[in-house]
Amino acid sequence: MILAKKDVSDLKMDVDEDSDGGATPEDSKSGKEDEIYGGVTEEELIERIEILQADNIRLLEEKRRLENEKHFIETDNLRLQREVQRLRGELARLKRPPLIIGIVKDILSNDRVVVKSTTGPDFVVSVADHIDVDKLMMGSRVSLNKQSLTIMDVLPPAVDPIVSGAEVIERPTVSYDDIGGLKEQIREVRESVELPLVRPDLYEGVGIDPPKGVLMVGPPGTGKTLLAKAVAHETHATFIRLVGSELVQKYIGEGARLVRELFEMAREKAPAVVFIDEIDAIGAKRLDVATSGDREVQRTLMQLLAEMDGFEPLSGVRLIAATNRPDILDDALLRPGRFDRIIEIPLPDLAARKEIFKIHTRNMNMVKSLKFDELAAKTEGATGADIKSICTEAGMFAIRDNRRRVMKKDFMAAIKKVLEEKEEGESEPGVMFA
Ligand SMILES: Nc1ncnc2c1ncn2[C@@H]1O[C@H](COP(=O)(O)OP(=O)(O)OP(=O)(O)O)[C@@H](O)[C@H]1O
Ligand SMILES: [Mg+2]
Repeated sequence: MILAKKDVSDLKMDVDEDSDGGATPEDSKSGKEDEIYGGVTEEELIERIEILQADNIRLLEEKRRLENEKHFIETDNLRLQREVQRLRGELARLKRPPLIIGIVKDILSNDRVVVKSTTGPDFVVSVADHIDVDKLMMGSRVSLNKQSLTIMDVLPPAVDPIVSGAEVIERPTVSYDDIGGLKEQIREVRESVELPLVRPDLYEGVGIDPPKGVLMVGPPGTGKTLLAKAVAHETHATFIRLVGSELVQKYIGEGARLVRELFEMAREKAPAVVFIDEIDAIGAKRLDVATSGDREVQRTLMQLLAEMDGFEPLSGVRLIAATNRPDILDDALLRPGRFDRIIEIPLPDLAARKEIFKIHTRNMNMVKSLKFDELAAKTEGATGADIKSICTEAGMFAIRDNRRRVMKKDFMAAIKKVLEEKEEGESEPGVMFA
């Protein structure tokens, strides 16, 4: 009891030395009835209990606070340990020597393998324990230890970034509703591209091979690329898009390799639609007189033809190509079995022009009295791109006049401007802008 009281008086800083004199001689003499409590009065006891209780509460709070702190430090410790681990891993990675890339040429008995390293000569090397030799195939791409050239890992086949980047991941927002006219052409593209991918059984039932490729031809600005975008938006297949000129490369054989990799990727990701825009860049007629550059382009074309004929069937892969120069395309591209479905995208007729006007003025603030029939009638010979440009110009005229609403006269001025500019451009073929 006395010990406990001493402890408490130690903790409690403001307790007076004299006041805790429960055991002091003066106290024991005073108040005889209080001696029942061992020389301590009841009041003093109550007071001490109160002090002890207050201390208890304070200590409990202190305990809670320290526990919190401990918890916090422990989590921090864990975080730091993880950081140390990560940095150790990073350090180990930095210290690790680079690996050489090689191609497996032959697999010998006794787990020995012949590889061609990218540094030049061929080597007979062994295989690291953790690699299953049965998984190695001739032509596999592997990484080799720098000193012993032991096979350390089997790598995935190389795909050129141009090819892997050609896959359309974010689909364009254009849908079939955004195309004015061209109903027949949309139907044809869907029939020959989408249907064989979605319902191959229909073709199998009849016993025919679906057409492999669809070629869209038509004057510039009539909506060929737009239609392909809509297919990419609406199809559930992988959509791979490439522009012909991307296949024209600096070094010999590079273009052909790209075409090969493109088809390899398409086959891997089947069902897939491959769209080659501006195919005239590689599909021009092959001539006898050709520079070395032309010959390289021709080799690329030949690879494309070979891929389309393919030893490996192209099931699950459909091709769409577009050009505005069908006249310069090589005949071999157009023969049956290759791009055998040619879809002509014509200049829009009256009804189509009206629809295109409607599409491009959807978000425009116009006077109600405007008649699309009238606009369509006044734009004979205009392409979809011209009409889009007319709508933009009309809006510009309204802005110039400080108006928020586009009026008929703006459209008339725009039609005049756009179509006259076009005619001028056509009548001066010698003019070049550099
Ligand atoms: N039928 C159409 N309906 C709606 N908009 C159209 C139509 N045709 C063309 N356009 C408009 O014109 C623009 C250009 O069309 P697009 O890029 O499809 O032309 P293209 O036929 O591919 O031309 P090029 O042969 O020069 O590549 C489109 O972005 C679209 O806004
Ligand atoms: Mg185009």
